[in-house]
Amino acid sequence: MDLSTIYAAVQKELAEVENQFRLIVETERTTFPNLHQMLRHVLTGGKVIRPALTLLAGKFYKYDASRLLPMATASELLHIATLVHDDAIDKSDVRRWRQTVNKIWGEDKAILLGDYLFAKAGEFAAATDSVRAVRLFTQTLATISQGELRQSFDARNLNQTREDYLQRISRKTASLFAMATETGAILSQAPEQSVEILRDYGYNLGIAFQIVDDILDFTGSEQEMGKPVGSDLTQGTLTLPAMLILERYPEDNPIKRLFQGGDAAENIRQAIELGRDPSIIDRCYELATEYSDCACQKLHLLPNEENRQALRGLTDYVIRRKK
Ligand code: IPE
Ligand code: IPE
Ligand code: MG
Ligand code: MG
Repeated sequence: MDLSTIYAAVQKELAEVENQFRLIVETERTTFPNLHQMLRHVLTGGKVIRPALTLLAGKFYKYDASRLLPMATASELLHIATLVHDDAIDKSDVRRWRQTVNKIWGEDKAILLGDYLFAKAGEFAAATDSVRAVRLFTQTLATISQGELRQSFDARNLNQTREDYLQRISRKTASLFAMATETGAILSQAPEQSVEILRDYGYNLGIAFQIVDDILDFTGSEQEMGKPVGSDLTQGTLTLPAMLILERYPEDNPIKRLFQGGDAAENIRQAIELGRDPSIIDRCYELATEYSDCACQKLHLLPNEENRQALRGLTDYVIRRKK
């Protein structure tokens, strides 16, 4: 299934989310042209997986557009804010096939724009009028910040376990996927057992999504992904493929040399070559697939087959994706 087929049931609502984005951009056109330019730059071009998750999760019970739409908008705004900050922290030049905010306007402006987007996201979350949704939103923002902080503190640390890795991606990525599905369930008045099933689906999908993202950092191409490859190694972030390379070559290892201050370009080139070894990549895909299978485990307990198919389709997409 491609993304447009998976999104079919919520296509109209996703167009509404995009409409909200256009309004956010337009309100500042004459009042603050610089902010208008920046917003126009960042509020388009993503895969919109997180708002789609909120909307799809909201389709199983009492679908309430007046609450689900602002929450879906909040999910994507929160995501984009983290990307703007992530690129500033990483000093990344390219995102979504265009220059990053930090590249064009500088790091200071990127941090401030990220803050603005977090606040806007909060405003939309509050528009659901659900204290429970707002609580989840704020908890998720704290969890993501923790994940990114841990990643920063652990940069170039070679002594990390698989468990450390899973904890980190759980915080920085899976928490937002889980928030997206859980809020969708809550705002459509799903029974508690279904809220849990949908939250767990989002969480496990998010882990699979980040493992694949970390694989693509080795095997992907900048042209296809619209962002640079090898950037995790450049940042000193030890991802799953990197951990497997360290286990496989414990003595003479380019990642060790890189993290201990060796030549960046040459060691990254060698590490990427080792990481593209099918036995390493297959092992990573196996783990990602375990999580995507786990995501689907209890979906049969939810009421609507068409929606269940869309959620299953999304787990396949996340494993197969090239961007
Ligand atoms: C990128 O997320 C950040 C990660 C969690 C790996 P996406 O790949 O969903 O980014 P966009 O929104 O489609 O650009
Ligand atoms: C992003 O993870 C997680 C965030 C919370 C922003 P990555 O650092 O792998 O995302 P990309 O690869 O830059 O999109
Ligand atoms: Mg990054
Ligand atoms: Mg990445």
